Amino acid sequence: MEYHCTLVFVLATLLPHNCVTLDSQLPNFILLFADDLGFGDLGCYGHPSSATPNLDKLASNGLRFTDFYCSSPVCSPSRAALLTGRYQTRSGIYPGVFYPGSRGGLPLNETTIAEVLKPLGYATAIIGKWHLGVGPDRMYLPTNQGFDHYLGIPYSHDQGPCQNLTCFPPDIKCFGTCDQGLVTIPLFANDTIKQQPVSLPDLEKSYSDFATQFIMTNTMRKQPFFLYYPSHHTHHPQFAGKGTARMSRRGPFGDALMEFDGTVGSIIQALVDSRAHNNTFVFFTSDNGPSLMRMSRGGNAGPLKCGKGTTYEGGMRVPAIAYWPGRIKPGVTHALTSTLDLLPTVARLTGAKLPRVQLDGFDMSDILFRRGPSKREAMFYYPTDPSEKHGLFAVRVGRYKAHYYTQGSILSDTTPDQDCHETAHLERHDPPLLFDLEADPSENYNLATHSEYKAVLQLIQDVKTEFEGGMVFGEAQVGKGTDPALEPCCAPQCTPKPTCCSCS
Ligand SMILES: *[C@@H]1O[C@H](CO)[C@@H](O)[C@H](O)[C@H]1NC(C)=O
Ligand SMILES: *[C@@H]1O[C@H](CO)[C@@H](O)[C@H](O)[C@H]1NC(C)=O
Ligand SMILES: *[C@@H]1O[C@H](CO)[C@@H](O)[C@H](O)[C@H]1NC(C)=O
Ligand SMILES: *[C@@H]1O[C@H](CO)[C@@H](O)[C@H](O)[C@H]1NC(C)=O
Repeated sequence: MEYHCTLVFVLATLLPHNCVTLDSQLPNFILLFADDLGFGDLGCYGHPSSATPNLDKLASNGLRFTDFYCSSPVCSPSRAALLTGRYQTRSGIYPGVFYPGSRGGLPLNETTIAEVLKPLGYATAIIGKWHLGVGPDRMYLPTNQGFDHYLGIPYSHDQGPCQNLTCFPPDIKCFGTCDQGLVTIPLFANDTIKQQPVSLPDLEKSYSDFATQFIMTNTMRKQPFFLYYPSHHTHHPQFAGKGTARMSRRGPFGDALMEFDGTVGSIIQALVDSRAHNNTFVFFTSDNGPSLMRMSRGGNAGPLKCGKGTTYEGGMRVPAIAYWPGRIKPGVTHALTSTLDLLPTVARLTGAKLPRVQLDGFDMSDILFRRGPSKREAMFYYPTDPSEKHGLFAVRVGRYKAHYYTQGSILSDTTPDQDCHETAHLERHDPPLLFDLEADPSENYNLATHSEYKAVLQLIQDVKTEFEGGMVFGEAQVGKGTDPALEPCCAPQCTPKPTCCSCS
């Protein structure tokens, strides 16, 4: 093992573009990112009625993670951390999430995975939900953050009126309320609006076609590629096109999930057809836990406590699968890992330069290729509105997790557990609540009162103190507020706004 690692290191030094692969090709990367999909939502994570045959196949032929975390219990900050390998507090993606008219966005001097790969000659594309800002002159769109191509909606598809929109064919209207008084949801092609409002039943097919085309074109050109697909599924309001509407056993949520799973299948098929599948690293995960406030139209956290909006496990521990035939041996890993670790892993696999900033991720290649231990010793949990005053809400070190603060969220309302609800106000815990996540993944049995855990609490406190000592909060980007004039409008000069912004 030692010898093997040394050999790989020497090769990496000699061949900076080719660190672990032994042939000369740079690997392709496909990053699949579901929206509000919980730990218990996939067939391969135990859900009894979900139809996810393609994701299940990735899991059975790839590596399935049991202890994988996103960095935030809500969308925008989670996406910022995934793409930059840095906690959202550093890049300033707080409090909460971006709106269509937000003035701020992911600062352009942050380095995304796409920007890490560009200098090596990668073709890069994003399809789906960006949610890291639009801003003045659309300056925060992904085409300014290392992506050659963008096809998608730059924020959540409930951040605009949806009462007149069709969510399922032939003409089933979207269920429930969406944000009012805003422009309807636009579909962007690069930095121009292609359709407004977007046609939701046709959306997935256009993503799937784009992905297939992108894979085929680049493999034909022998150009390495990075495809980032942050899906709108399974976020509220659920939608699906002809092939999947009313096809799952699980109702509208199940249909939306099934449609996403179908696109995963098409993407894998395109890799096989273009003979790129054994030179492509595919990674799947979710941006945060289930939106339990949506009841049976929200997701499922499985055995984990609460969901979206909270720093309990259900809010931030998410399903994850790594797939690379011939390179990653099928199995299950319990290694402590995070979306923060993807950027350093991609850099390691390609020999790309790491951005010269404080990163919070760790290279996962030992876990992926050798089933080695994780370099990550801790996971840090910030709430949706982090502040220097309160700092971290919780810290996991090894199998133990301490909660310094707990707070429920409207996003996790309606479950039987009152701790999850909005009515569970901010509460400080001194000593912190302590749970053994291996013996008690549901965070039911507080150990802090037992004297034998004193040393564990002290260790976690030390790790927390050291981490917070190195945390510099960036200027709050969501905190810059909104300006209605910045909402994307396909007919910029029209009146009266926002209703006149319609081009279909
Ligand atoms: C980006 O620029 C801002 C404002 O100048 C600065 O505060 C921040 O540290 C910079 N971030 C990075 C990653 O360089
Ligand atoms: C988006 O931009 C890329 C790169 O400039 C270009 O190749 C592509 O044709 C553009 N797509 C659309 C739909 O305009
Ligand atoms: C929805 O349709 C109704 C009836 O056609 C119309 O009065 C209303 O303005 C529409 N609302 C939006 C947000 O488009
Ligand atoms: C990759 O796939 C190609 C074509 O399917 C095959 O010839 C080759 O042996 C495979 N390489 C590895 C390392 O599995």
